[in-house]
Amino acid sequence: MEKQLEEIRTEFEHELAQTGSPQELEELKVRYLGRKGVLTSILRQMSSLSAEDRPRIGALSNALKTFIDEQISARCKQIEQTGEGGIDITLPGRVPRQGTVHILNQVLTEIEEIFTQLGFAVASGPEVEDDYHNFEALNIPAHHPARDMQATFYFTDDILLRTHTSPVQIRVMESKGLPVRIIAPGKVYRCDADVSHSPMFHQVEGLWVEEGITFAHLKGVLYEFIHTLFGPDLPLRFRPSFFQFTEPSAEVDMGCIFCKGEGCRVCKQSGWLEILGCGMVDPAVYRYVGIDPETVTGFAFGVGVERVAMLKYGINDIREFFENDLRFLRQFSGR
Ligand code: PHE
Repeated sequence: MEKQLEEIRTEFEHELAQTGSPQELEELKVRYLGRKGVLTSILRQMSSLSAEDRPRIGALSNALKTFIDEQISARCKQIEQTGEGGIDITLPGRVPRQGTVHILNQVLTEIEEIFTQLGFAVASGPEVEDDYHNFEALNIPAHHPARDMQATFYFTDDILLRTHTSPVQIRVMESKGLPVRIIAPGKVYRCDADVSHSPMFHQVEGLWVEEGITFAHLKGVLYEFIHTLFGPDLPLRFRPSFFQFTEPSAEVDMGCIFCKGEGCRVCKQSGWLEILGCGMVDPAVYRYVGIDPETVTGFAFGVGVERVAMLKYGINDIREFFENDLRFLRQFSGR
């Protein structure tokens, strides 16, 4: 019987080496240690042994049982670790997905690059503003109807969320003096929401104040800006407009990039797309920041970043930018 146990052990070791999956191991275990297993049937014959053989053979078969058990566990671990068996190691690995810069930040960066190349520095100001910088010093006095045009979020009578980036004009002229040639990108807030309005959106303010700056400089800078963004041959038109803090003021339209000026749904059949507001800094603004309006001239402009991005990429709902739908965002990866 000792010999029999030895044979079982050899046979087991041979079979174990050939197993390749957790299932096969389970089958092997049942075959050796199960109720009708090889080892079990040997143990049943114990009663036929003599009293002196019995303890010895008993110990031997128990040792074998433990051995088989341990070997199976060890092999099981090995299969799991090396990926033999259940896992198909020929399959390609799972590559972690990489995030990308949000499309609005990509456009913002592009805008910043254009203006830095034209010698503009990048400035910033607070999103929580006071009435003075957001309105008063921009020549929009209290109770003036122009305030109603910008549905303002107020914290108190005096503190609000800035409705445009124009207060940065005031802050820069107050603190830095002249000459100034800056852009100020950032978030602005208005109580307004539909397909083309979001309560939070982005603007880039521009301000160049220096001796001898004329409307021709304004046109030159804006032509360069829009042509770099949208293509060199696009027609532009400066349409007379009004802002409290610029005089004269204009809104700039560019030829519709979707219909090439023929008239379509996007340009409402006009052939033109409005892109920004601008003008020569109003002398009243200089007085607020302690600059003698007789000594300098300058221009300012404000452009909506969402608007630029929507036109550039044919996006027709501003809310897409803020819903964090990965199917939308991923379209702009790898730019
Ligand atoms: N601040 C204006 C707006 O938000 C835009 C503008 C900026 C117009 C600078 C003229 C000069 O509508």
